[in-house]
Amino acid sequence: MSELIKKTKLFYEKGYKKKGIEYQRKYPNEELCRFMGRNYFDIHPKKRKKIKILETGCGTGGNAWMLSREGFSTFGVDISSKSIDLIKKLFKKNNLKGNFKTGNFLNIPFKNVNFDLIIDIFSSCCLDKENGKKYIQEVNRKLKNNGKFFSYFPSKNSNMFKFLNKKMHDTDTMISLKNKSSYKIDHPLRFMSTNQYINLLKNNGFKIEYAEELTRTYFFRKEKFTFLVIEGKKIKPSNTS
Ligand SMILES: C[S@@+](CC[C@H](N)C(=O)[O-])C[C@H]1O[C@@H](n2cnc3c(N)ncnc32)[C@H](O)[C@@H]1O
Repeated sequence: MSELIKKTKLFYEKGYKKKGIEYQRKYPNEELCRFMGRNYFDIHPKKRKKIKILETGCGTGGNAWMLSREGFSTFGVDISSKSIDLIKKLFKKNNLKGNFKTGNFLNIPFKNVNFDLIIDIFSSCCLDKENGKKYIQEVNRKLKNNGKFFSYFPSKNSNMFKFLNKKMHDTDTMISLKNKSSYKIDHPLRFMSTNQYINLLKNNGFKIEYAEELTRTYFFRKEKFTFLVIEGKKIKPSNTS
């Protein structure tokens, strides 16, 4: 495991230990709900169990509980063992079914399972550029043919990337941010442009089915943050898989 991934693991492990379930979202990402509506909610509830969905970097289950409640077979992997304890407790308490494992999403566990859908909500952005490419190849390897990938990812159009005083690990990945009026970032955070993400997916066996940008402001409009919302379909294995 690289030093940067170790740093991320420590960062999140500390956060989950300190804040518990409150550390991450309680309700699903809105763009994920819209994506599910566009692609999966017209499937009859009785047929949904056959559809296997994995969230990479599943945190405390804010997205995963919705997938399970809607009747899909739900899987999750996270590098923090504490987050996996929390998600398992959440599922038990709510009588939901799910399969969760601690692990690095560069080497997705669930050895004998291939997925219909893999989702990434602000998680693969914790990887640097080189590992970001490996992640997309790993997602391709674990998807069935015609399986889908959904990602919600930081855009290079964000103020944080364009203007703030930051230390870079590579051209896309910041490793710390110093600015009192902004968030404190103490783990790697990678940004891409929409075209860059489209090309990354296309070069690794995906057809693009949706690519939008969303901007919102923070700190009384002082800071603008842009999110990429992107969907791909696996049409062939990537070169390395
Ligand atoms: C910002 S949180 C998002 C959590 C969840 N997707 C959500 O929307 O609530 C990023 C998550 O990715 C996990 N993560 C980061 N790098 C990882 C890696 N290499 N392998 C597995 N999980 C990782 C972190 O532990 C953390 O739980």
